[in-house]
Amino acid sequence: MKEKVLQVVALSSYLDPILDKEFNVIKYWELENKYEFLKKQGGEITGLVTAAPVGVEDILFYLLPNLKVISCRGVGLEKINLELAKEKKVRVAGTFGVLSNCVADLAFGLLLDVARNISTADRYIRQGKWKEKSYPLTTSVSNKKLGIVGLGEIGSIVAKRAQGFDMSVGYCSIHKKSHSNLEFFETVEELAAWCDFLMLTLSGNKKNTKLISKSVLKNLGPKGYLINVSRGTVVDEEILTEFLVNKKIAGAALDVYENEPLVPAELLSLENVVLTPHLGSSTEETRRKMENLVFENIKSFYVTGDVLTPAN
Ligand code: 8YV
Repeated sequence: MKEKVLQVVALSSYLDPILDKEFNVIKYWELENKYEFLKKQGGEITGLVTAAPVGVEDILFYLLPNLKVISCRGVGLEKINLELAKEKKVRVAGTFGVLSNCVADLAFGLLLDVARNISTADRYIRQGKWKEKSYPLTTSVSNKKLGIVGLGEIGSIVAKRAQGFDMSVGYCSIHKKSHSNLEFFETVEELAAWCDFLMLTLSGNKKNTKLISKSVLKNLGPKGYLINVSRGTVVDEEILTEFLVNKKIAGAALDVYENEPLVPAELLSLENVVLTPHLGSSTEETRRKMENLVFENIKSFYVTGDVLTPAN
């Protein structure tokens, strides 16, 4: 008898058929009266599959009284109530260990782009402006100071990438990492005052909401750059926009936003801003690894009693 699994969101033409073949999948987004349906049939569902940006509504923990496992595509699990999952004895898995290189690659691409104006200079040529005037000088990256907020798996790989550019690297994290010889800063404000490029690779949990505040950006200063591959919620987006419009910081490269897919309109016309649509892990190779792990996590739970890459 196939396990009944609630799939909260369509994932891909690769993974969805695999889930359909293995489990009795209920496609949440296709249900007419979701809560009514689950009030009647929720008791038969033991597994749930979702994606990080969608997460799991708290009510589902109550409508699915026999839920045992959640398998999520992604690592930023702030939209899954892990405390409630623990209370309900639901095992949660994320796709840890397979996307960090990919996100770190994009992070460095964004840093290089915003420092050397690669996207802006591309537009400059396409708009025919090079015929009229040379492009202005930009900012070097090599031998500069990189401040990393959140030295987890992604942040650590970014630090490694920085060695290739002979950059000095400092970091701020909940705790000083005993295994790291990088310079540790107690506060983000101190790190921002020290570095040329402030890289955000921290968790998007509630505690970090709007951590990048006016005082941090003030310390980063008119020659400083912000790069965010974390979550839009960790930055005070209104303040950041004001700082960018008034050139109180030199520039920003953003892959994530407070209310995706909405991006503050004022940012769209700024030449000192690079914008990408949450592409951190979005490559063929990495997405395939993530989706295979989504399947392996939930399948492993039913076979062995546990997932491969647990979040709780
Ligand atoms: C993707 C992410 O948006 O891993 C995360 O938390 O935000 C990104 O990698 C997500 O994995 C898509 O499911």
